Amino acid sequence: MQSRWRMLKAMLLLTCLSTSTAGALSAAASAQTHAPAWQQIGDAIPASLTGVAGDPQRGRAIVSNRRLGLCLLCHSGPFAEAPFQGDLAPSLAGAGARWSEGQLRLRMVDASKANPDTIMPAYFQTAGLTQVGGAWREKTILSAQQIEDVVALLVSLQ
Ligand code: HEC
Repeated sequence: MQSRWRMLKAMLLLTCLSTSTAGALSAAASAQTHAPAWQQIGDAIPASLTGVAGDPQRGRAIVSNRRLGLCLLCHSGPFAEAPFQGDLAPSLAGAGARWSEGQLRLRMVDASKANPDTIMPAYFQTAGLTQVGGAWREKTILSAQQIEDVVALLVSLQ
C-alpha cells in the first residue's frame, strides 16, 4: 500500500514537471518570434545571422551613414567620404586584424555582452534594453543582413 502511494506521488510529480517544462519550452519558442536568435560562444557569435555572405560595400554605406549606423558619431576610421568622425571610441581602422569575425559580430549584435558598461548601442537586440523610444520597441536598429554587411566591412579593415 505504502509503495503504491509513493508511486502515485512520483507519477504526479512527473506529470507536473513535464507540463511545466512544456510550458517553458513553448514560451521560449513564442519569445523567439519577437527576439532575434543567435548563439554566443565565448565572446563571439561564430555563425552568420542569415547564412548569406555580407557585402562590405553595403556595410561601408551603413557605417558612414549618419542616420542608419551612427558609428562615426563615436568612432573614426578609414572613411574619407565621412568628414566628421567621433573620438569617443577606438578607431575602426584595423578592427579586422584585432578581432575575429565572430567577435566583431557579437560587438555589433550587442556590445554589452563583451563590455557590460559599454555606451555602444546594441544593433541587433530587443531584449533587456531600457529607455527605448516607441518606434524602436520590439525592433532591432539594423536588420540581420545589415549586421552581416557591417561585419564583412569590419573584417576587411586590416
Ligand atoms: C555611442 C557610441 C558608439 C556608437 C554609436 C558605436 N560604437 Fe562601436 N564602440 C563604442 C565604444 C565606446 C567602444 C569600445 C569598447 C566598448 O566600450 O565597448 C566600441 C567598440 C567597437 C568595436 C571594437 C573596436 C576595437 O577595435 O576595440 C567595433 C568593431 C565597433 N565598436 C564597431 C561599431 C560600428 C560598426 C558601429 C556602427 C554600426 C558602432 N561601433 C557604433 C562606441 C560606439
